[in-house]
Amino acid sequence: MRPDTAPRHTAIRLAEYTPPVWLVESVALTFALDPAATRVSSEIVFALNPDRAAADGTDLVLDGEMLTLVSASIDGEAVTPAVDSKGLRLSGETLPERFTWRAEVEIAPEENKALEGLYISNGMYCTQCEAEGFRKITYFPDRPDVMTTYTVRVEGDRATCPVLLSNGERGETGELPDGRHFAVWHDPHPKPAYLFALVAGDLKKIDDRFVTASGMDVALEIWVRPGDEDKCDYAMDSLKRSMKWDEEAYGREYDLPLFMVVAVDDFNMGAMENKGLNIFNTRLVLASPETATDANYAAIESVIAHEYFHNWTGNRITCRDWFQLCLKEGLTVFRDQQFSEDMRSADVLRIKEVANLRGRQFREDAGPLAHPVRPEEYIEINNFYTATVYEKGAEVVRMLHTLVGPQTYREALDLYFVRHDGQACTIEDFAACFEATSDRDLTQFRRWWSQAGTPRIRVRMAHDAATGETALTVTQKTPATPGQADKEPLHIPFAVGFLSASGEALALDGPDGERRDTHVLELTRPSETFLFTGAPEAPVPSLLRGFSAPVILDYPHTDAEKALLLAHDSDAFNRAEASRGLALTAAQAIATGEADTVDPILPDALATALSRGGDPAFLALLLTTPGQEEIAASLAAQGRTVDPDAVYAAKTALDTAIATAAKDALIAAWHDNATPGPYSPDAASAGKRALKNTALGLLVSLPDGPARALASAQFDEARNMTDSAAALMALVRLGGPAAQAALDAFHARWKHDPLVVDKWLAMQVAVPEVDALERAKALRARDDIDWRNPNRFRSLVGAFASNHRRFHAADGSGYDFFAEQVAWLDGVNPQTAARMATAFDTWSRYDEARREKMRAAMGRILDQPGCSRDTYEIVSRLLG
Ligand code: PHE
Ligand code: ZN
Repeated sequence: MRPDTAPRHTAIRLAEYTPPVWLVESVALTFALDPAATRVSSEIVFALNPDRAAADGTDLVLDGEMLTLVSASIDGEAVTPAVDSKGLRLSGETLPERFTWRAEVEIAPEENKALEGLYISNGMYCTQCEAEGFRKITYFPDRPDVMTTYTVRVEGDRATCPVLLSNGERGETGELPDGRHFAVWHDPHPKPAYLFALVAGDLKKIDDRFVTASGMDVALEIWVRPGDEDKCDYAMDSLKRSMKWDEEAYGREYDLPLFMVVAVDDFNMGAMENKGLNIFNTRLVLASPETATDANYAAIESVIAHEYFHNWTGNRITCRDWFQLCLKEGLTVFRDQQFSEDMRSADVLRIKEVANLRGRQFREDAGPLAHPVRPEEYIEINNFYTATVYEKGAEVVRMLHTLVGPQTYREALDLYFVRHDGQACTIEDFAACFEATSDRDLTQFRRWWSQAGTPRIRVRMAHDAATGETALTVTQKTPATPGQADKEPLHIPFAVGFLSASGEALALDGPDGERRDTHVLELTRPSETFLFTGAPEAPVPSLLRGFSAPVILDYPHTDAEKALLLAHDSDAFNRAEASRGLALTAAQAIATGEADTVDPILPDALATALSRGGDPAFLALLLTTPGQEEIAASLAAQGRTVDPDAVYAAKTALDTAIATAAKDALIAAWHDNATPGPYSPDAASAGKRALKNTALGLLVSLPDGPARALASAQFDEARNMTDSAAALMALVRLGGPAAQAALDAFHARWKHDPLVVDKWLAMQVAVPEVDALERAKALRARDDIDWRNPNRFRSLVGAFASNHRRFHAADGSGYDFFAEQVAWLDGVNPQTAARMATAFDTWSRYDEARREKMRAAMGRILDQPGCSRDTYEIVSRLLG
């Protein structure tokens, strides 16, 4: 905490949780929609909670923010409670044990640019209530452990709002005076307020249906703006596959006759699992071959599944309090990962999941924002929708799956669904289901939820030629994180196998006496030794197979051993890992000046792998060299000060060396992996395009190489966005008049499609070769783009901050631009501004001059008048 910033906002603590004093039996809401003055009438039946904490008294506290209270009554008697900026309190002494509260409030959706509560996006009303947005709609106990049934009547103009939607099932509809109409909705499933949703506007739907395993006919509707109806097929297809998969893999059926998805332009996050009415950022619904890339298609599949899966893991079983967020998010991410692994290639998915985990979550864990998967305090809960809660939370569930095995995992989840359906739960409830079904004591394992930081696993091997014994000595240590100096040992599933010196798989006898290709060791102590027998010669260990735990591994494989693993390991994850290890070693040597050239071992190994062939998607990953951010992180992990220019030089040298050694194979890969004919988003076709475009990307680094000709041809001929965007990106990196002409042509063609404009924006500022700051400033000055839209802002300012070389320009100009933009956004949309500000979380890696400039830039964000609670919390934690 800086001396001049005494806490301006108070922290909420897990340890201070108490059950609600009042429960809600039912809610009825009426919305009279109007952009400037929407009236919300509520009728809420309250009853004293028999299980309340006695010390809490019986006052009723209702949350409410940005509301104008018009009238209120208790059992028909008018009351005039005092309200403040947080809500109102009714004295328990005046309240019967059960009563009906009625209130009317007024809100102004058209002024709501924070996109929380009820707002208007492109003429369409919509809501976002997670985590604490419902309190911006009406007075209510806005906490997830208060669950109730909702009846909602929506009234609006028939002309501007022909469609009126809310959660649950359709009820009565009818006409009203003055060109208005109404629709009533009823949701029979009790839910917390954060799952409430309302949508109204001029929307069109595409329809389909799904029959559940027990025969219920479910109407499926995807609602979009007129003109977008032809971009919903993939989302609909993904939805039906998700529903089927959840029945087969988890025995979970859908529970209402209607399931709706709505796509909105202005949305802070990816999507939201509101009961029966999921609301999505358009970028995660709309796709056509001409406008969406393979990566967009894969993201749609995964997020449609994620939100659908929340119906059981999140909605029917919800969180007791927001500290338990990982209960629904970690579990649901693991479920959507399993789904995507089943739909596509599990190996390829796993490699991508881990790359994402390392790039975002390990980064978070290594910096000032580190926090446990289940945090213990927060100022603003919106700041805890993090990679740690989501992605590490999913890894924790995956480790449980590994430890107990798939069958017991399924039994544990079955028990969870039976025991806790309809409840608001904790991580302890979840863990108890695993203890009950597996007879395991998970006391130590539970530390994964409470202890922050990424454990370091150091492994050393000894081989005794006389006995054929191979000993692995494994040491674990988790570094200190903010507020957690001392760490305890964790319970870690650690999957290992062995290869012979010539690359054959060796099935050794493990510590349990069983002979296996892969042994899952369970680490529990700070240091322990595991014995394997049956290898006459020293084997090459293949460690942490499949990335069986979210840890950083330290083992002194030689480069030759890495090349052996790259070529021969039966574990696909570790083949990719060997490639990454060789690449990082080479890049570090260049960045630190220890070497001037890249050792040929990796370029040669990749050229060989490419000529041998195999799954193109996997080969594309082998060929994807670490980015500058990853190289920088690896240097920081060795305790070195990061020099961004040296990192850029290392990255360029690495790609150039690979492109030089594998030039012919890369050109062949570009030709051989064309996907002529109609576009199909399936994994095999996408894998070919990935290999082709990865090859093109590497060839860009060859001066006077073939990339310019290949990219121009590809750009001119492309009939899908994957190939078009990759070609354009290559041209932009190569620069010159051809690049500008291609950018202009692309913009002229797509300027009316905001999601394609996003790609056009990001591409120009995210590549290190261009003067990204100058471009970012010129683009930001355009007034044909609404910069308050989170997708637009992120595509420009977020993409700029991901440009390691340019963001970290030595003169601080990148920091200044970025900070100025975040400060501006904070005045409009604090939630998104705070999230953006986290880009500064690596500031301590750099030299003192850059640190000072970053601290000054952060200070300016913090010191601007009216700095939001969201951004205040993030920046003050960043500054430490
Ligand atoms: N609960 C959403 C999800 O993970 C994310 C979200 C959080 C969306 C907060 C909006 C606001 O699916
Ligand atoms: Zn989620």
